[in-house]
Amino acid sequence: MNNYISENKDRFLNELLDMLRIPSVSADPKFKQDVLRTAEFVAERLREAGADNVELCETAGYPIVYGEKIIDANLPTVLVYGHYDVQPADPYELWNSPPFEPVIKDGKIYARGACDDKGQMYMHVKAFEVMMRNNALPCNVKFMIEGEEEVGSANLGTFVKNNKAKLDADVILISDTGMLGNDTPSITTGLRGMSYMEVEVIGPNRDLHSGLYGGAVANPINILCQMIASLHDEHNRITIPGFYDNVTELSQEERAEMARAPFSLDKYKQALDLGDVHGEEGYVTMERTSIRPTLDVNGIWGGYTGEGAKTVIPSKAYAKISMRLVPNQTSEEITEKFTKHFESIAPASVKVVVKPHHGGEPVVTPTDSVAYQAAAKAYEETFGIKPIPVRSGGSIPIVAMFKSELGLDSVLMGFGLDTDAIHSPNENFGVFNYMKGIETIPLFYKYYAEMSR
Ligand code: BES
Ligand code: MN
Ligand code: MN
Repeated sequence: MNNYISENKDRFLNELLDMLRIPSVSADPKFKQDVLRTAEFVAERLREAGADNVELCETAGYPIVYGEKIIDANLPTVLVYGHYDVQPADPYELWNSPPFEPVIKDGKIYARGACDDKGQMYMHVKAFEVMMRNNALPCNVKFMIEGEEEVGSANLGTFVKNNKAKLDADVILISDTGMLGNDTPSITTGLRGMSYMEVEVIGPNRDLHSGLYGGAVANPINILCQMIASLHDEHNRITIPGFYDNVTELSQEERAEMARAPFSLDKYKQALDLGDVHGEEGYVTMERTSIRPTLDVNGIWGGYTGEGAKTVIPSKAYAKISMRLVPNQTSEEITEKFTKHFESIAPASVKVVVKPHHGGEPVVTPTDSVAYQAAAKAYEETFGIKPIPVRSGGSIPIVAMFKSELGLDSVLMGFGLDTDAIHSPNENFGVFNYMKGIETIPLFYKYYAEMSR
């Protein structure tokens, strides 16, 4: 198989570059045709690789690409999940090369979606091709590649609920996370959940002259800032009543185990040009980004932001606020607590409207399962080192649903790095990582089949 991989390396890369040229931004309707074209692209490549029953499954939003290879009902079945949509590429001017004109520079593929998730998803299509061409597919495999992950997977839950038989499998396999480093492979064993809110603070019924009214009428932006500031206390803890009620606290042993993963605070600060880090008192950086819940403003707007100065008390102010959740919090519970609290802290001088966007539940995956052990063995073989289990701070809402709806655990075999700049300008993915993924995935299938016997 490794010969086949090295002989076809250039083609594997070029096919990925072709997909990266299609701007499949799910958040922006302007790219609708491109998102649809990407779904077709993935379906066609799955067919070429040897998948059967490849189809685009319609949803209320973008289609889900499905394909399968069932070789023997007695063998275990792996369900591969990934996404073909990408984040918006804005701000374009901060890219060193255009986001949808992929280039390979210094061993890295630069493009929106290079890592998240086109590059990582396509490793699975190529790994499947490698196994097919070498008569070495040891399991049944099903592919479910969606186009709405970056906008909250609103229609995927319904699809999963309505297609339980079609999606019947033994394990879910996903590459949509990262690892600690190319010399320190790791496997993600947890994801945070999410409650995403939008708030509107409404003041006077029109924008006002800030000289004539300033000082006597509440400025919605001032008020919104005060309200947001009050959501954290001096220990950087979230002040929403009951916010931490259901948070699972880790034992000292578990925290000590976590602290064994290599991490340099100096390098972390340096990489981000930070004078210091910031977060909940009593927890270190790795804990703050994995086992602890957070609240962040993603965007805030209102009033005059154009050229020059305009003296105005704006009528309205807005913010998008997201909370990352950890086991045992639920997005429903937190959405409710946030809404109640945010409404309650609004002074009588303004009105407040709180709207929930998408949500998702946190998840922790087992490390004592056959699937995890098979993945660990695969990494150990290709990297020469045993991978470390690490809980991640990111969210992939469907993973908790795979467990609750299908009863299936996921194995999160990510090959990305923190330096890949996912969601940021100059997103990239190492050619090394892409090829390592294509090499490691078939070994997962091999060990999973062997160890399931
Ligand atoms: N692939 C990411 C999630 C991720 C990245 C998890 C790295 C762990 C490590 C995914 O595409 C993503 O961006 N998810 C969103 C959530 C979604 C509801 C918009 C996120 O985490 O913000
Ligand atoms: Mn992703
Ligand atoms: Mn993403």
